[in-house]
Amino acid sequence: MTTQNTLSQDTESIQHSGLPVIVKVLAFMVILVLIFTGIANLLPQVEGQAPKETKVDLAALTMDSYIAMGEQLFKGKGTCTLCHNELGRAPNILALDMVATAKKHLSSDEYKGEAKNSEGYFRESMLEPSKYVVPGFGKQGEPSPMPVINKPPIALSDIEIGAIIAFLQAKDGGQPTIALPKDVPAENTQSSALSAPPEVAKNAQAVLTKNGCPACHTILESTATIGPNLKTVSQRLSREKIRESIINPGAVIAEGYPPIMPTNFADKMMVKELEMVVDFLAQAGQKPATETEQKGE
Ligand code: HEC
Ligand code: HEC
Repeated sequence: MTTQNTLSQDTESIQHSGLPVIVKVLAFMVILVLIFTGIANLLPQVEGQAPKETKVDLAALTMDSYIAMGEQLFKGKGTCTLCHNELGRAPNILALDMVATAKKHLSSDEYKGEAKNSEGYFRESMLEPSKYVVPGFGKQGEPSPMPVINKPPIALSDIEIGAIIAFLQAKDGGQPTIALPKDVPAENTQSSALSAPPEVAKNAQAVLTKNGCPACHTILESTATIGPNLKTVSQRLSREKIRESIINPGAVIAEGYPPIMPTNFADKMMVKELEMVVDFLAQAGQKPATETEQKGE
């Protein structure tokens, strides 16, 4: 009897003192996350609503914007990230060095395709995926689970496929061998991807601001403490760990912090933007503030 009484008293005192604070903190975090999801969902829509009448003058198309266009197609209209992500359904292309991967697969005994280089390998992977099925993702000799990219429902044009090849070749620092498109067949001039080559953020500060990092982290002008201080992150984490913390925050949770960092930054950031942020964070705290003000490029 007495023991039971003390027990229930204890439980009561816990409920009265401890729990409400935790609940408040949690509710606050949930609200924050909701706000961020809201912002994240809002941004692309706002962009999408803007009238896009400008057609790209192909003569003015640079390799940089062709690469950026490929990245957008990869993450958007091409639906590649539906399967090619960290969930293991298909090779995690954004995390792999794909030029090196292509080379490795081309020299495999199992390889029965006709490609001679990474450009050919990427094109063949998209147009005739069953020519070579990556071990562990389907069976050799059986049709690949990967859809044929120039057929419905995905149905990318040659120019769009070229842009993705440029992106795959460039994303790990390589030089694209694919040529810029010269003339566009009439039906492609309306293509949404062509009508507005995506803009890469100017510098790391712009990327951080655009993605709302300062709301949770001490960085730039912010002193937020929901996540660890990013001005000193270079003292705790290597470049690779910083990159991983952004792409895949769930992999390692910083001690003493809740696992609430959004997990979709890899999809929202261009590879170039991610690299700018990683560079910036890997240097912040090691270099005087004036040097972080340097102009991009
Ligand atoms: C429905 C799921 C799915 C979609 C969508 C998809 N893929 Fe794949 N892809 C796979 C699978 C599974 C493999 C591995 C089997 C194989 O090699 O055919 C693969 C393999 C590849 C490879 C070869 C990878 C390697 O390691 O050699 C490339 C390159 C590739 N895909 C590019 C793309 C691109 C670009 C897109 C978007 C335009 C895309 N995929 C869309 C499922 C998909
Ligand atoms: C909603 C709040 C929130 C936002 C927005 C957010 N983070 Fe985080 N971040 C966290 C929390 C909480 C942690 C610690 C838990 C963990 O490791 O996942 C963290 C961890 C990190 C770490 C690892 C730090 C360490 O010391 O281990 C890095 C790096 C990082 N965030 C970078 C970023 C960048 C860059 C952005 C913007 C692109 C961003 N975060 C946006 C909450 C956020």
